[in-house]
Amino acid sequence: MTIIGDEPEGAIPLDPNELDGLRHTHVTTRDELNQLEQANIGSGLDWLGRTRESEILTEAFMRKLHEKLFGDVWRWAGSYRTTLKNIGVDPSQIGERTRLLLDDAKYWSEHGTYSPLEAAARFHHQLVEIHCFPNGNGRHARIAADLYLKKYFSHPPIDWLGGEDLTTAGPRRKAYIAALRAADDLNYEPLLRFVGAMN
Ligand SMILES: Nc1ncnc2c1ncn2[C@@H]1O[C@H](COP(=O)(O)OP(=O)(O)OP(=O)(O)O)[C@@H](O)[C@H]1O
Ligand SMILES: [Mg+2]
Repeated sequence: MTIIGDEPEGAIPLDPNELDGLRHTHVTTRDELNQLEQANIGSGLDWLGRTRESEILTEAFMRKLHEKLFGDVWRWAGSYRTTLKNIGVDPSQIGERTRLLLDDAKYWSEHGTYSPLEAAARFHHQLVEIHCFPNGNGRHARIAADLYLKKYFSHPPIDWLGGEDLTTAGPRRKAYIAALRAADDLNYEPLLRFVGAMN
């Protein structure tokens, strides 16, 4: 089994079975893993830039995106989570909840329910709240929210980083996780501030 070090705040630990899906058996530290994942995300974003797929709000596309972002590192990339986590719906509910969210997101854009940034913030939060995959949910859902902004609202991406590194502990990460927790309790204000939809 591969031993990986401490997770930053709000990161969800991996199940040993999921760690066994690591394609690189020589990895022993969180730093090495981060680097491999970062490189994979880079090639996944290149793929995203090239793809001609016009409909992104489908389960198939969400899974494919996850596979392209993480599939060089994790064998289970693009496959829904099968184990319970301290965040996320029961694994048996993932498909249905994701379909409902994708339909809602479409509806919001067609009916102007929310401003583009609020729609993207709500979409992002609900996607991470479902927690479709064993790992990589935050990064996948941040990219998915930016894609939703671009394709459905012709809107520039969210400034997630604000000049900081969101994947490691720090004030920006703290604010991000706190905002998601508030949204779990249906208070979206902190998240709307975080994404710049509110002053
Ligand atoms: N209380 C919460 N409610 C909703 N989502 C949460 C909550 N806490 C954390 N999250 C989300 O879960 C993500 C962590 O899950 P996971 O480890 O699968 O994603 P990741 O992409 O590997 O994480 P990271 O953000 O560290 O890159 C966080 O980035 C955040 O998006
Ligand atoms: Mg993680």
